[in-house]
Amino acid sequence: MNRVLRSAVFATLLAPALALVAAQASEPANVKELQKARHDHYHELGDSFKVIRDQIKTDKPDLAAIKTAAKVVNDASVNQEKWFPAGSGPEAGKTQAKAEIWSKPAEFKTAMKNFADAAPKLQTAANSGDVAAIKGAFADTGKTCKGCHETFRAEEH
Ligand code: HEC
Repeated sequence: MNRVLRSAVFATLLAPALALVAAQASEPANVKELQKARHDHYHELGDSFKVIRDQIKTDKPDLAAIKTAAKVVNDASVNQEKWFPAGSGPEAGKTQAKAEIWSKPAEFKTAMKNFADAAPKLQTAANSGDVAAIKGAFADTGKTCKGCHETFRAEEH
């Protein structure tokens, strides 16, 4: 290979590869932040889901609080697919996100979809103010949380 060709090969093939290595080298701080953000998102989701659970147990559920909480739940069901970039699993530090999320992507996608299918129904029910409908949609949504956690979430340690 002549010199010109060699440098062309470097520019087109090796330089981007080296840039990628550099990007990965600077990743750890970002991954930690990302894991923390994910954890915080799920806590927010858990808190909102609990608001609905607590309210539907009362004689006079606070429909405004349920409506607000159902929106947080529904937003999470839409956004969660962004919370699991490759490299943010247990290999990157303490997290309850199991390696199966990345090793069984099709199953994980289904688990996310189950939740994303149920959550809008919960929000619709919440917006309607029909408590019986809210209870039903809450139970259906709760099954999808559990369905994912069973396979993809580790116990807190
Ligand atoms: C598609 C999978 C999936 C679905 C659906 C899902 N979760 Fe999770 N959840 C996870 C994973 C993975 C973690 C661990 C995240 C981490 O540690 O980075 C988690 C963490 C949590 C946590 C924090 C746990 C703790 O002990 O700190 C709460 C609370 C939570 N989820 C509640 C819910 C609720 C409520 C729903 C349903 C409304 C739900 N999740 C739906 C995958 C899911």
